[in-house]
Amino acid sequence: MSAPLIEAENLAVRYPDGEIALHHVSFKVESPTFMAIIGPNGSGKSTLLKTILGLMKPMRGHVNLMGYDSEKEHSKIRRLVRYVPQRDRIGLNVPMKVKDVVLMGRLLKKPLPRLASEKDEMIARNALVHVAMEDYWERPFPELSGGQRQRVLVARALAGEGQVLMLDEPLAGTDMESQELIVEALDQYHRDNDVSVIMVTHDLNPIHTLVRDVLMLKNTVVGVGTPCDVMDPALVQKLYGPTAKIVEHSGHRYCLTRDTGADRHD
Ligand SMILES: Nc1ncnc2c1ncn2[C@@H]1O[C@H](COP(=O)(O)OP(=O)(O)OP(=O)(O)O)[C@@H](O)[C@H]1O
Ligand SMILES: [Mg+2]
Repeated sequence: MSAPLIEAENLAVRYPDGEIALHHVSFKVESPTFMAIIGPNGSGKSTLLKTILGLMKPMRGHVNLMGYDSEKEHSKIRRLVRYVPQRDRIGLNVPMKVKDVVLMGRLLKKPLPRLASEKDEMIARNALVHVAMEDYWERPFPELSGGQRQRVLVARALAGEGQVLMLDEPLAGTDMESQELIVEALDQYHRDNDVSVIMVTHDLNPIHTLVRDVLMLKNTVVGVGTPCDVMDPALVQKLYGPTAKIVEHSGHRYCLTRDTGADRHD
């Protein structure tokens, strides 16, 4: 059997200014999966991704990805993972075209000179088809709307290589149509390629029927399991406060939170 996708044991992470972002984090998620990490602002979701990638060091405990230790084997982890950070560093004053951004997903891991082959171009164009952005190939990236830029960044991740896709709030600032396109593209890619997807999101609603595992974080693990397991009144209140509710209607369970509105769960 292959190593678990993520295995954390008593993980604690602290920022240099003293803020403890994560403590007593222990959980295990098997591979391959489509996984959501949810939790309110400041709950340590981005910190967890950065720690897994070896960008931050644990203060205590450890976390492994596909059997590799985040601290000691981060170069192996970086080869496996395609990461879409919460705030991308692509400057909007750089006149990059959409094609340049998507091709970066293939070229950055290649040795110099980083020239795109015909195969690279074909894969990049195909990735754009998945997020319905293929007509924007020659368009300047900074001229796109926020939601269109998110779709291009997801395409860049789809065009890359590696067994794990890790996306930090790819749905932020996107409308319903973009959300559906992004989520469906990720789900299809996960199923077609046996690639695990780890996605941070504020709202379980657009993905709850597709994800297999959910990790609820509030600086420590509040819950972990299937969407059905975590749709529990006590757990959602621990995460979002006493106003969060689970309601049942026509055989479906909904999670009502001030943050997210209604989350339906079949
Ligand atoms: N660079 C930093 N320096 C110091 N503290 C930080 C830094 N980045 C995050 N923190 C703190 O660590 C905690 C967790 O932050 P993190 O960014 O991981 O949360 P998050 O769940 O991703 O939040 P959001 O939903 O707002 O993206 C917060 O209390 C935050 O203030
Ligand atoms: Mg974050």
